[in-house]
Amino acid sequence: MGKFTFVVVIMMALAEGLHASADLEVAWQDYLSRFPMGVQTKTEYGHRKSLFSETHARIVKHNSNAAAPFQMEHNEFSTMTEDEKKVRLGAMKPERPALVHQSSSRQLPTSIDYRTDACLSAVRNQGGCGSCWTFSATAVVEFGKCKKAGGTARDLSEQQLVDCSRVNGCSGGWEHEAWKYLSANGGQAAESSYAYTAVNGTCRFSTSTMSIGAQVSSSAYVEWVGTVDKMKTVLASGRILSIYMQLPSSFFNYKSGVFYDTTCVANYAHAMNVVGYGALNGVDYWVVRNSWGSGWGAAGYVLVKRGVDLCMIENYSRTTNIV
Ligand SMILES: *[C@@H]1O[C@H](CO)[C@@H](O)[C@H](O)[C@H]1NC(C)=O
Ligand SMILES: *[C@@H]1O[C@H](CO)[C@@H](O)[C@H](O)[C@H]1NC(C)=O
Repeated sequence: MGKFTFVVVIMMALAEGLHASADLEVAWQDYLSRFPMGVQTKTEYGHRKSLFSETHARIVKHNSNAAAPFQMEHNEFSTMTEDEKKVRLGAMKPERPALVHQSSSRQLPTSIDYRTDACLSAVRNQGGCGSCWTFSATAVVEFGKCKKAGGTARDLSEQQLVDCSRVNGCSGGWEHEAWKYLSANGGQAAESSYAYTAVNGTCRFSTSTMSIGAQVSSSAYVEWVGTVDKMKTVLASGRILSIYMQLPSSFFNYKSGVFYDTTCVANYAHAMNVVGYGALNGVDYWVVRNSWGSGWGAAGYVLVKRGVDLCMIENYSRTTNIV
C-alpha cells in the first residue's frame, strides 16, 4: 500500500467514525426527547448513555439485515441494565404434570385474532414489579368471564394476586397457582375495588366489602395445554392462554414482524398470553399479548413464530375455566 493510499484509508476510517458518533448523538437526543430522564448526575447520565449506545448498535445492526424476520426499535428498555429488565418480568418455570388437556377433533380455523374482540381488555402495564404472572393469569380470567357472561371486557385486580396468591409477589409467580388461589378464595375482585400498586402489599381481599368480578372453577382451575394443536383448539373454543417464555435479549426492543430468535435467556423468564394465531408472508405466528403497556412493540402485542416451541412458548401453555 502506497503512503498516499494509506493516508486516504485512515481519513476515510476517521470520517466514518465521526459519522457514526454523530448518528449516535442524533439518536440519543431524539431518544431523550421521547423518554425524558429528568435531572441526573453526570455519572448517571454517562451510564445511561453508554447503555443506550450498546442497544443502539444492536438495533442498527439487526435492522440493517434485510433478511431479519422482525424489526427492533428504541423503547424504555434501551437504557436499562439487566437487573432493571428482570424487574419487568416475573415468571417462574412451571412444573407441568403428565396429564394434559385433551383436545377435541374440531375443525380449526386457519387464523384467530382476539386483539379486536370486545372481550379482550386493554393492554396493561406491570411497571417495575415482577408480576407478569398476575397479568397473564388475570387476562385469561377477564376474557373467560366476558365470553361466559357477556357484556363488556372486565378489569380485574392483579394486585389481589400479588398480595394474596403471592408465591413471591413482585418477585415472580405462577399463573396456575393464581387460578388455584382464586378458585379457593371466593374469586377475583374488580380493579376498582383493589387497584394495582406495583409493590408487594398485605392481602386485604374481602368477599364482603369488594366487588367480585369473576370466579374460577375449583375442579378445573388449570388445564395444561402444551402443544400447537391443543393451543389452537383452546383459542377456537373462545378462551385465551397463559404462556411461559425465556426471552432472548432482542425481545425487549421488538417493534414489528414475526419475532424469531433462538438465543433464549433462562434468567429472562416472562409470562404473557397467546390470544390468536395466523401467518405472515408464509411464516406461522402466535399473537402474543404483553404487559408492558400499549406503547411497547406492536401496540402492546408481539407476533412470535409458531410451531417451534420458541423459548418454551408452547410447552408450558395453560388456561383456566370460569364458573
Ligand atoms: C416440556 O414440559 C415437560 C413436562 O413438564 C418437560 O419434561 C420438558 O422438559 C419440557 N420441554 C422443554 C423443552 O422444556
Ligand atoms: C415480595 O414478597 C415475597 C414473599 O412474600 C418475597 O419473596 C419477595 O422478595 C418480595 N419482593 C419484593 C420486590 O419486595
